[in-house]
Amino acid sequence: MNLVKVGTDSLFRWRSNPQSTGYSGGKGVCLHFWLALLFAAFASAQSSRAEMEKMCKGCHEIARATSLRQDRAGWNQTMTKMTAYGMKSAEKEYALVLDYLTSAFPPEDVPRINVNTAKAIELESRLSLRRSQARAIIEWREKNGEFKSLDDLKNVPGIEPEKLEAKKDRITFH
Ligand code: HEC
Repeated sequence: MNLVKVGTDSLFRWRSNPQSTGYSGGKGVCLHFWLALLFAAFASAQSSRAEMEKMCKGCHEIARATSLRQDRAGWNQTMTKMTAYGMKSAEKEYALVLDYLTSAFPPEDVPRINVNTAKAIELESRLSLRRSQARAIIEWREKNGEFKSLDDLKNVPGIEPEKLEAKKDRITFH
């Protein structure tokens, strides 16, 4: 707040309107709302990473802790094993860290399919799509250029977004 610079006149005005945040109109508020939400999402990803580091760094390097690529059941097994070695965790932190490891270090033996270059037949078999859906992906690509994200892919008509969401670990864009 640059109160020093503003004259007494505007200082008085500022005082007489203590509710003022300096931003007028709904737009500013709205933008701040979205920024806050974005920040919260970012902060939560950061904090689950931090939680994992706190939990896992006690006995070995973090690099060792994250040396595996596996699914949820696999990570659960690893964490159970670490618990047997003496790792301490409250139920809530355990769940948080399990979520984090599952999404940040998923299995990688199944190669992902590149939806920007795959042929119709590959899309069909690897993502278990119907022929018409595979064709719709290719048509969208030809018309709009490369898919950059899952959200782009969800714009393809005729494919249930939940179906794509469920397959997102098998998809890559480059
Ligand atoms: C209380 C000590 C302790 C903590 C805390 C700990 N670990 Fe371990 N971890 C071990 C020991 C001991 C080994 C090695 C056993 C060996 O050398 O065979 C190990 C080995 C590993 C390995 C190598 C593969 C394997 O299964 O042996 C992975 C992966 C791993 N830990 C992941 C983690 C993760 C993820 C966390 C945090 C959620 C964690 N560890 C926290 C004790 C711990």
